[in-house]
Amino acid sequence: MNLKITLLPGDGIGPEVTEAAVAVLKTAAEKFNANIRLTEALIGGSSYEKYGVPLTDEVLSQCYDSDAVILGAVGGWQWENLPHNLKPEAALLKLRKALGLFINIRPAKVYSPLLDASSLKPEVLKDTDILILRELTGDVYFGEPRGYTDDEGWNTMTYTREEVERIARYAFELAKKRSGKVTSVDKANVLETSQFWRKVVHEIHQDYSEIELNDMYVDNAAMQIVRDPKQFDIILTQNLFGDILSDIAAMITGSLGMLPSASLGKDYALYEPVHGSAPDIAGKNKANPLAAIESVAMMFSYSFQMDKAAEIIEAAIDKTLQQGYRTADIYFPGNILVSTTEMKDIVLENFNRIYDEQALGVFTL
Ligand code: IPM
Ligand code: MG
Repeated sequence: MNLKITLLPGDGIGPEVTEAAVAVLKTAAEKFNANIRLTEALIGGSSYEKYGVPLTDEVLSQCYDSDAVILGAVGGWQWENLPHNLKPEAALLKLRKALGLFINIRPAKVYSPLLDASSLKPEVLKDTDILILRELTGDVYFGEPRGYTDDEGWNTMTYTREEVERIARYAFELAKKRSGKVTSVDKANVLETSQFWRKVVHEIHQDYSEIELNDMYVDNAAMQIVRDPKQFDIILTQNLFGDILSDIAAMITGSLGMLPSASLGKDYALYEPVHGSAPDIAGKNKANPLAAIESVAMMFSYSFQMDKAAEIIEAAIDKTLQQGYRTADIYFPGNILVSTTEMKDIVLENFNRIYDEQALGVFTL
């Protein structure tokens, strides 16, 4: 299999975590006989510094020409006061829109060795496995008009029927492969956009009578995720609410440094850790690379149907955590504190060991 992948390491800790993820990607590809062609390009603040824009047309066409895109992170204090369309974040939003990535999948599940790393109680967290399905190309993120003057600021929350239908359908299809339960999160008690969202989600649900559908207001959902996360399986929600709820749900995994994501559309796919560019620790070899590495696992599974490769990457991460290795964000006394590159090396070692054991038939997952 020949795979063309564009790497967009971005800003802050983006390059460090991407480098770790690429090391795992290369090893896994080699073991599973996939021939990978990687091309690296600039995005975000680093692109702005060189080209005066956070995303060039060349990079965009390179992404159009790829089987998958891997992104690190964008943003940093240096660029905070730039006009809206030149900010690093604008590049990410443009990329999502241009590639038609309307499905955003953020799995918040617990690695059992990390039960203590969360601020939530272990007994609340145990066995939690939530999949946040965030609509990614609509809502206030893209609605027009938008702007501000000295006296006023405004945005437009909007959804078209087609936008709600396609993400709802995806949610119900995915639910068939999981526990058969979808919670649709909105703010229909206040917002017309959400009333519309709810109505369309229910219409699509009529084609999926075997799936259980519940509605929940977003303020209640935020509370329920920390009160009793096990009640959820798939959370289907609008772009803005998904942004907020996925950061809350990150605490289930113990750290924002543990949450991977896949952004999918009809023709393209992009994989990125949910965390940001963390400028305060950038360049210090301290960042947690596991979300980026997990994003690579998601890529193997969602884009290339290489489920076995994904499974072994996840098993390698699990093993590494069981052995007590932790980057600073998930470190507790008694653990072994490691750097970004050390964490990567240990995951690679475990990957190779688990792969070899499986090849010999000694170990089954
Ligand atoms: C995310 C981020 C982005 C978003 C930012 C960086 C534009 O917070 O992916 O969750 O708001 O979608
Ligand atoms: Mg966010």
